[in-house]
This record gives sequence, structure tokens and C-alpha cells, in this order.
Amino acid sequence: MSAIRDFDCAVKHSEQMLPGVVRIVFDCAEIASAAFPGQFVQIEPSPDAFPVTRRPITINRLTKNGFELLFDVVGRGTELMAEMKPGDMVRVLGPLGIGWAIDPGSSWLLIGGGLGAAGFQFLMDSVVSATVLIGASSSDRVIPLEACHVVTEDGSLGGKGLVTALISEKLLDETDSIAVCGPVAMMEAVWNTIPEKHRDKVQVSTESRMGCGWGVCDGCSIPVSGGGYKKCCQEGPVFPGVEIDWKRWKEAGL
Ligand SMILES: Cc1cc2nc3c(=O)[nH]c(=O)nc-3n(C[C@H](O)[C@H](O)[C@H](O)COP(=O)(O)OP(=O)(O)OC[C@H]3O[C@@H](n4cnc5c(N)ncnc54)[C@H](O)[C@@H]3O)c2cc1C
Ligand code: FES
Repeated sequence: MSAIRDFDCAVKHSEQMLPGVVRIVFDCAEIASAAFPGQFVQIEPSPDAFPVTRRPITINRLTKNGFELLFDVVGRGTELMAEMKPGDMVRVLGPLGIGWAIDPGSSWLLIGGGLGAAGFQFLMDSVVSATVLIGASSSDRVIPLEACHVVTEDGSLGGKGLVTALISEKLLDETDSIAVCGPVAMMEAVWNTIPEKHRDKVQVSTESRMGCGWGVCDGCSIPVSGGGYKKCCQEGPVFPGVEIDWKRWKEAGL
């Protein structure tokens, strides 16, 4: 494992990209040069006392001199992050975790649920070929990605339905690796849709409530097959789909 490092990063740009969804760009050549698709950073929302812990956000893509994050504003930490303005200096720990396992020359099928697609751009920029399937509740939850196939539950963008309807035997046959990211229930539905013979190709980007973000506090367990747990922050967040104990993970909730 490489050394965990903390940086003072300057906010370069911040905007509301979709209702309740913020895009923020940080200047930080050190994190950008070390980052791998699927990794995340731990952002200090405020140098004041609350929230005490940092907030984990996936690196959506690299920029000229740094990296971009997309996040949902869901609580105090992300509210404070949404208030960050260009020029603000923010403590950022990273890059953290183990990202997607990418075989050179492999073709990818990316399956995302809503904001779960945050992070796909970095993966798309790093592989030779990627087909992207996105499902969301409505159009205002769809991250714009080039040439992706979209369905929405209310039919406001693309076809009406769930992302599982877009998964075909042909796509699975043509694909070497499958990346899945989104809410647990959506990922489980995708997993159940994929026939046994293709399941070894599946990698899953997990989420868990986090404390430290680098393996110390034991606060981010993901149930794995065989009855044990793995640390989302250090042994993940990306795991082979076959390693996840889907039943226990779903029951654990978040
Ligand atoms: C490895 C990793 C990568 C992530 N990447 C992204 C990303 O790219 N974009 C993004 O929008 N979010 C991402 N998240 C989720 C994000 O970290 C949480 O939404 C955030 O920490 C909430 O902080 P808060 O203080 O605003 O909300 P809190 O007040 O802490 O919580 C508000 C609500 O959000 C839920 N929540 C809190 N933490 C999580 C979590 N880890 N996963 C799911 N729900 C949570 C809580 O249950 C609660 O309902 C990621 C999480 C992990 C573990
Ligand atoms: S968040 Fe502390 S061990 Fe994973």
C-alpha cells in the first residue's frame, strides 16, 4: 500500500450540476498523478468541530491539474462541501482504496444507478472501449456521459424502466469486464440479472459509512462470502461481485 497523504487542495470550480448535485474541481497535481479509476478521496467539510469525520467521494475524472468530484447534497457534510468556492483551501486525504481492476485492452460494460455513475468518467477515460448503461429515477438524476444508454423510472429521459432491462446476453458476451455502481438494491438487481457464466467479470463499487477512510477504525465493513467482512475503504471500495455476500449486505442497510 502506498503512503496515505493529506493535501491542502484549492477549489478551482464549483457549480450545481443537477438539482441537489454539485460538481467541484480541485487543483492538486499530487492526488491527480497518483489516482486510479475507482479510488476516492476524504474531504474535510469544515476545519471546525462538526462534522468530525471527513466525507468520502469518488474521483469522477481527472482534470488538467487536479480532479473532479460529483456529489449529492444529503446532510451537513455535503452541505458544507456545496458551499466551497473557488480559491478556498480544503484538506483532502487521498487517493484512497482499491479501484477497478483493469486488464489492458479489455472492453467494459458500465452499469450505473443515478449518482452511482459518479466515477465512471475516469474509468471510461482509462479503458479502450466502454458501453455505458444508466438507470435513474428521473432525468434530473442522470449524470451526462457520452454515448450512454439511459432509462428512467418516470420515463423523463430515455426509455421508461429499470437499468436491468438494458442488460442483454449480447452485451454480456461482448464484454470482458463489468463495472456496477449505485444503490445496493439496484446493484443486487443487476447481479441477479447477470447469468452465472458472466458473474466472474463483475466488479462492484461499494459504499459504506466511513470514519478514517484508510483502514484504522474498522467502521466500514462489507459482508463477504464465507461469513466475514472486508474494509470498504482499504480492501475496496471496488470488489469482485463474487466476493460480496449480497444477502447480508442488503440486510445491513446503510
Ligand atoms: C467510497 C465512497 C465513495 C463515495 N462517492 C460518492 C460520490 O462520488 N458522490 C456522492 O454523492 N456520494 C458518494 N459517497 C457517499 C457520500 O460519502 C455520503 O453521501 C456523504 O458522506 C454524506 O455525508 P453528509 O454529512 O452530507 O450526510 P450525513 O448527515 O452523514 O448522512 C445523510 C444521509 O446520507 C446517508 N449516507 C451517509 N454516508 C453514506 C454513504 N457512505 N453511502 C450512502 N449513504 C450515506 C446517511 O445514511 C443519511 O441518510 C461515497 C461514499 C463512499 C463510502
Ligand atoms: S473507514 Fe476506518 S477502517 Fe474503513
